[in-house]
Amino acid sequence: MTLIAQISDLHVQTPGQLAYGVVDTNRLVAQAIAQINQLQPHPDAIVASGDLVQHGTIDEYETLKTILSPLRSPLFLMPGNHDCRANLRQVFTHQPFSLSPLGHLSYAVDCDPLRLILLDNTHPKKKAGWLDEQRLKWLAHQLEEAPQSPTIIFMHHPPFLTGIPWMDRHQLEGERELKALVAKHQQVERVSCGHLHRGMYCRWAGAIASAQPSLVHQGGLELRPDTPSQFVMEPPAYQLHIWKNQSLISHIAFIGKFDGPYRFSDGRRVTSLTHN
Ligand SMILES: [Fe+2]
Ligand SMILES: [Fe+2]
Repeated sequence: MTLIAQISDLHVQTPGQLAYGVVDTNRLVAQAIAQINQLQPHPDAIVASGDLVQHGTIDEYETLKTILSPLRSPLFLMPGNHDCRANLRQVFTHQPFSLSPLGHLSYAVDCDPLRLILLDNTHPKKKAGWLDEQRLKWLAHQLEEAPQSPTIIFMHHPPFLTGIPWMDRHQLEGERELKALVAKHQQVERVSCGHLHRGMYCRWAGAIASAQPSLVHQGGLELRPDTPSQFVMEPPAYQLHIWKNQSLISHIAFIGKFDGPYRFSDGRRVTSLTHN
């Protein structure tokens, strides 16, 4: 069994700041880290799929480093549109991208038997996702290199439309080319993304593409047209991808203290010593 925890959209700020004047992102991320550390067994890897901080400053990345430091599993970072790639690289000097000669922060990690491809689809000047020929070529090479390895492609911006009008105002540039490429590689199990701050999934290019909830604030489920982009304080969550019995099973795990657990057999509270 191989466990990959995916956290996304942390939007960490310098201490004392609230995102949008409302959300104490640092407190929520610290709470999530503490909860993920309780998992038994510990994940084999943790992937953070972008929007690691709110404004991309060095101070924010230093704060992020401190908040993430208690994590007990190997951590792999990638940027989102709120990140600054140069500052991210400057602070996190031990990430696989730190020595990369590529102009983008993409890399692949082997986490036996899974292969994790972290594909940077951010543009330094655009809010929307963007994949150019260079990155698509890089991805093609990664996919051709290990056709037998079950693969998760992580990106910040999802490649699909959501049905939520305010989320669909921006589309991933290069989506068509990416789709054609992924469709040729059956080893791709997931294209697992962040950015939308809301859990959703669809069939895409022969794989399952998904977006996941944020560790902090969530994107509002508002289906009417002409509504502004908006967030709600629904519970934060992360994804736990489990490779078992030749299948990838992806769980949404909520962060927080919830009542229970209770035994189905008699309704009594489960203690750490209870087995049924
Ligand atoms: Fe975000
Ligand atoms: Fe984003």
